[in-house]
This record gives sequence, structure tokens and C-alpha cells, in this order.
Amino acid sequence: MDKQFKRTLVTCALPYANGPIHIGHLAGVYVPADIYVRYLRMRGREVLYVCGSDEHGVPITIKARQQGCSPQDIVDRYHAIIKDSFEGLGIHFDIYGRTTSKVHAANAAGFFKKLYDEGKFITKESEQYYDPEAKQFLADRYIVGTCPKCGNEGAYGDQCEKCGSTLSPEELINPKSKLSGAEPVKKKTTHWYLPLQDYEPWLREWILEGHQEWRSNVYGQVKSWLDGGLQPRAVTRDLDWGVPVPVEGAEGKVLYVWFDAPIGYISNTQELLPNSWERWWKSPDTRLVHFIGKDNIVFHCIVFPAMLKAYGDGYVLPDNVPANEFLNLEGDKISTSRGWAVWAHEYLQDFPGKEDVLRYVLTANAPETKDNDFSWKDFQQRNNSELVAIFGNFVNRAMVLTHKYFDGKVPPCGPLEDIDKEALAEIPLLKASMEKNIEGFRFREALKDAMGIARVGNKYISDTEPWKIAKTDLDRTATILNISLQICAALAIAFEPFTPFAAKRLREMLSSALDWEILGRPQLLPAGHRLGETELLFAKIEDEAIDAQLARLEKIRAEREAEARAEAAKQVAPQKEECSFEAFDKMDIRTATVLEAERVPKTDKLLKLTIDTGIDRRVIVSGIAEYYTPEDMVGKQICILANLQPRTIRGIESKGMILMAKQGDGSMRFITPQEAVANGAQVG
Ligand code: 2FM
Ligand code: ZN
Repeated sequence: MDKQFKRTLVTCALPYANGPIHIGHLAGVYVPADIYVRYLRMRGREVLYVCGSDEHGVPITIKARQQGCSPQDIVDRYHAIIKDSFEGLGIHFDIYGRTTSKVHAANAAGFFKKLYDEGKFITKESEQYYDPEAKQFLADRYIVGTCPKCGNEGAYGDQCEKCGSTLSPEELINPKSKLSGAEPVKKKTTHWYLPLQDYEPWLREWILEGHQEWRSNVYGQVKSWLDGGLQPRAVTRDLDWGVPVPVEGAEGKVLYVWFDAPIGYISNTQELLPNSWERWWKSPDTRLVHFIGKDNIVFHCIVFPAMLKAYGDGYVLPDNVPANEFLNLEGDKISTSRGWAVWAHEYLQDFPGKEDVLRYVLTANAPETKDNDFSWKDFQQRNNSELVAIFGNFVNRAMVLTHKYFDGKVPPCGPLEDIDKEALAEIPLLKASMEKNIEGFRFREALKDAMGIARVGNKYISDTEPWKIAKTDLDRTATILNISLQICAALAIAFEPFTPFAAKRLREMLSSALDWEILGRPQLLPAGHRLGETELLFAKIEDEAIDAQLARLEKIRAEREAEARAEAAKQVAPQKEECSFEAFDKMDIRTATVLEAERVPKTDKLLKLTIDTGIDRRVIVSGIAEYYTPEDMVGKQICILANLQPRTIRGIESKGMILMAKQGDGSMRFITPQEAVANGAQVG
């Protein structure tokens, strides 16, 4: 870390209070930020850790409409749930504020007003969609229509969730208002815009030249925005939920949520430290680090810095923005609307006492450089084979044996053998690597280093076998356990950023307060030091718990597939070219009854049907076995094309074809007369 900074201000993206948080949020933003903050604090650095709920924006008003309550009800409910989830997972912000607070309303309005008074905005009149029945301008999310790219009829004005295309409302086919269902009309409206293009040369110099150390995903995204040419960005919206635009002639307009939300970082600091917040935001001694997900990069690296630059007054700019990629769940994109997620508050209920396991797994699989996947089997495996079998098992053996042979007191360390020296020598190396990795925002690697210490300990105690040596040589046993306990102490320090609950329990077991600077030094626990009681650090996760989670997801997947099939079935194939009556009349279509049915051996799709056509008794081979069993077909009346040229299929002569209704998803149903008719009746 650069020496010039005296303090670090860490912000985490303010989650929208329109739903609970899930593992994607945690892995992307909050767990890495928490590791970083805990680490800096252990190193005695001055840190302020700021977050809060993002309580404005259209998703909140939509949720309120869906649930028939006010936006305030929605944000009150989810703010409380989200705040509790963070606390439950050991993520303790210095402040977890809200953008509906009075402090924020005044601060965000004041920020806008200063830029407005100083002529930093431009105004533009444009035509936007308006709902003539609801008498309201429609934000992009309030307009639905058919996606021009994939035909999805439920695409939003800004995005099609089916094919992932970014859209503008103008591109939608048959746009409809979500409010009233009315067809929206275009209406003129005026908004304020921040002319981002004016800040482009400065942004290039500051980031592209000055911050080449930023993660390549962040740097690359910024570069592509800048290379694409920046456009003025509207900072106001026609909406009735948000911070009112504080100038005359702006009735019915609010600040755009992405204008007010990042100011929320400042407001929340003001709320916490009304008299000293500027020390954090306006001092060159502050290092600002924004933890965010990749969808927030443009706002934190381009828009918010341009806002701060326009404002002047010595605001600090981010020194780094370690944005993560996305986490998938069991191979599929997390989707809150489809319920394809693991919610933090549900996890805390389903796995009490296992807060650390989630933190551990989300860090081990963190999507730092590319999208990554969370699977329940991997979760179980990492718990059982890593946390339990390596870390927990090692600590347990060291503790239990010390209680057994040395009355719970750290035994003295005698002369060291090579195996002892080698184990101890690894710790400072792993510590140095961990420091480099955490300070470089490589938390996965840092966790591997910490786990490396546990592996060293586990291997050491397995190789030295103090339980056997104790039978013949108590002095040597004392040395082995002394060293093992020193490694336990190292673990209690090294794991504090990653698994703080277990680290605390381990410190209690060792009856010791331990700080980072001593990690890697010899004899952290002096001989004679009395240990606390032994308890298990981690417990095995059984298959039943994992199966319950998988069953829940499987149910969602099955429902989703059924919906998709029903949707696909509705797709109607285009009408074929015209044909003459004569051409149609050549087809001899008859009713018939299935007498016998059997599968054609070694095929998945074919049934051999013996039918009574009224004219004769014949065999037809039909590709319907995916949809009907032989038992389904026997006795059924069907329609056939009787005069189709015979064909030999799998060695069976098939005379004719069964008429089937084929749906948009390819599935088929046979056609049957509504009431029984004589076999051989002509259909036409
Ligand atoms: O993407 C989101 O969830 C936003 N609510 C993040 C806002 S971050 C900040 F700028 F407040
Ligand atoms: Zn689409």
C-alpha cells in the first residue's frame, strides 16, 4: 500500500432495498470488502467502512406497485432484512445508512444545487414515453414490449432479460405501459445532464495513465467507455420517488438514482461523523476504495468521479475500485425475479453457526477475474474436506493432546529438529504472501495462503504423531505440541479477516489476544500459558442439508422449465404457401382405430401401430414415442393420411401417416374426432 495515505475509506455498493441480498452480492462486494477492512484494522490502520441501502430508483417503485404498498414500506422492510443479514455474517459497517434519510436528502439536493448554480449541467429537451392514462412519464422499466432481438414479449424498456440485450424503449415492438397497460405516447420533457464528454481528457489521464494497476476488468471497461466517446448523462428523472430536484420549474422531477446513490456514501459519513466527515472525504491523506460489482464500474469510475471533479472542493477520488465479476448458482445466472438465488437471510436460518463457511466458500470461489459458480456440493466439500478435515482437525488434535498430556498448559519447547524448523519457517513466508495478496485485492490467493498455514499444521502433527511419541518421550511430545499450538495461534490471526467467528473462538480456546504484527514470529504463546476449553471449530455438513437446498433449486428449475415449455408451445409457426384445392383433395385422410401398439426395438422415438382403417388392417410406424406410450395409444381413434406412399422404417413397412398437431416447442398430440365415428370416415 502506498505510504502517502494516512487512512482508508472503504465503501461498499449500496444495495437496492427492493429485495434481500444473495450470495452474488456477498461474493461480489461485501465479503471481499470485509476481509480488506478486517485486515487493515488488524494492521492498526485507520479505516472507515461505509455502506447503506440504496432506497430510490424505479425497481423500488415497481416492487411497491406489485405488492400494493408504498415505496417507503418496501425500503423499510428490506433495509431491515439486509442490515440484519450483514450483521449476521459478521459484516459490521461503521455506518449502514439509508438514502431516504434527511441528511442525505439535504446533501444530495445541495450537491445538485451547487453544480446547477455553477452552470455545470446542460439542459436538453427530449421526447420520452408517457402514459396518457396514468398521466406519468414512464421510466424504462415501466415500459414492456416485444424484444426486437429474440421476440420475448416481456422485454423491458432498458433490457431483455431473456436474451440479455440492452435495449432502449424505442426499440420495443408494441410497447405498453406497465402502469395501466396503455400504449405509451411520446411527450416532450426537459432534463438536466452532466456533460461527461467534457471530463474525458481528465478521466483518460487520471485512470488510463494514472491507474494502470487497477484490475484489468475494471481498467478495460473504463477504457472501452472512454474509447467509445462519452455522452451527456441525464441526472434527473420524471418520477415521484426520489430526492426532488431543488430548482424552480422542476416540479415532478427527482434526482436520477445513480446521481443520488453515490452521494449516499458521503451522506452516510456525514451522518456518522457530522463534525469530522470532511477529514475522510476531502483530505489528500485519505485513500478511497470502492468495492462494487462489475455492473457498477461505469458509475464509480466515470460518472461519480466526474461529479466530484465538477463539484471541486477537494473531494477525494477512488484510489482503487476492485470490482468483481458475477457469481452464478449451480451453473445458471442468479436471477432474483425467478428466485434462482441463495438469500443471505435464509442461509443464516438454514445454517446457524455456519456464517464462516459461507464467507470461506465465497472467497475461495470469488469471481475476481471471471464469472464463477457456486454449487452446494462444492460448498459441502470445502467445508468437510478443508475447514473440518484440515483446519478444524489440526486445531482439535493440538488442543486435545495438550489437555491430555500437559494439563491444558502450553508445554515447553525443547531443541528443534529439522521437521520443526521447516514447519515454522513456512509461516512468515505465507504471511508475507497473504499481505501482498490482500493489499493487491487478490483475496482468493490470500485465503489459500491462510489455508496453507493450516495445511502446514495438519501435516506437521500427522507426520510427528505426538500421540504415539507420548508413550515413550514426553519431552519431545512437549516440543511438538508447543509448535502445534504456535501454529494454532498463527491461524487465529491469519483467519480473522476470512472466518472471523472461528478466529474468535480459536482465540478464546487459546486464551489469547493476538495481533497481526506478531504473526510469523516464534513463541506467540509462552510455555506455561493456560489454554481455554477445547471446542470444535467446524462441524461436518451432512448430505441431508445439501439435498434440501438442491431440492429447493430443482423445484425452481422445474417450474421455470415448465413455464418456458408452455411459452414455447404458444409460438405459432408461420402459415405455409397457398395450395390448390386439387392438391389438398389428393390427400386421402381417414379415421382409424389403433388395435395394437409396441415400441420399435432400439429406438427412442418410434411406435409400431396396427390400425383398423375401415378399408383394411395395416401397420404404421410413427415417431410419437416421446409423447405416447403403447398403452396410451391402444383403442384410440386417430386420423391418418391413408394414401401416403408406403415407406420401410427400421425394416417395417409403414403404410400411411398419423395426423399430429405439432406445437411451437416441437411437442405433438394426435388428432382425434370429437366423438367416435366409423373407421374409414373421410376427413376433409
Ligand atoms: O447496483 C446496485 O445495487 C446499486 N444500488 C448500487 C449503488 S452503489 C452507490 F453508488 F451507491
Ligand atoms: Zn430478447
